[in-house]
Amino acid sequence: MTASDGPLRVAVLASGNGSNLQAIIDRFIGDEAVEIVGVASNRPQAKALGRAGEVGIGTAVFPKAEYGGDRVARDDALAEWLEGLDVGLVVLAGYMELLSAKLVGSFAGRLINVHPALLPAFPGLDAIGQALEHGVRVTGVTVHYVDEGVDTGPILLQEALELDPSLAREEIEAQVHAIEHRLLPRAIELIAAGGVRVDERNPRLVRIEAPGT
Ligand code: GRF
Repeated sequence: MTASDGPLRVAVLASGNGSNLQAIIDRFIGDEAVEIVGVASNRPQAKALGRAGEVGIGTAVFPKAEYGGDRVARDDALAEWLEGLDVGLVVLAGYMELLSAKLVGSFAGRLINVHPALLPAFPGLDAIGQALEHGVRVTGVTVHYVDEGVDTGPILLQEALELDPSLAREEIEAQVHAIEHRLLPRAIELIAAGGVRVDERNPRLVRIEAPGT
């Protein structure tokens, strides 16, 4: 999609606090190039849903328990909701469940995630804790396309953070989150501008051709 096709229709999936969703809302509410058309969660109590509601964005909840604990059936319903919204991009912003292969396949190239480490280091849960436990000097944030693996898809943007060993874990977490809140909206902005494409010869390589990168 390019800017000339009208606004990029973006749905956000979030499981918890939703500070990344908030950063997206703050950046794009009223924007001509991006429209946030819906926010969904697997958890009815996710604070992210309230953040969406406050600015009039439609929300939906897809708890696995409502589908007999069947993740695939739940993701079929989620995919139907996303298709109904005619989304051009689905953003995982702290969405803490794996998506079914079918959903990932249906939205291939239209599905991105933010991860609080420099992938391929420290995929999966508690990436910040993993990095600290390992004793790395540099960590950071990755925004990547989602494929069927856990945090394995082609990388769109990364930003490094040099770790100050005198800082407490909470302070490091705050630094990582501040980077996420910049990088994820930037990735959406670049996609909306039509400047992002996967290299024809190397599908791992994401080429960014928008100005200012
Ligand atoms: C973020 O650190 C994200 O990278 C990770 O979960 C956290 C979600 O934070 N996957 P929030 O809900 O956006 O505040």
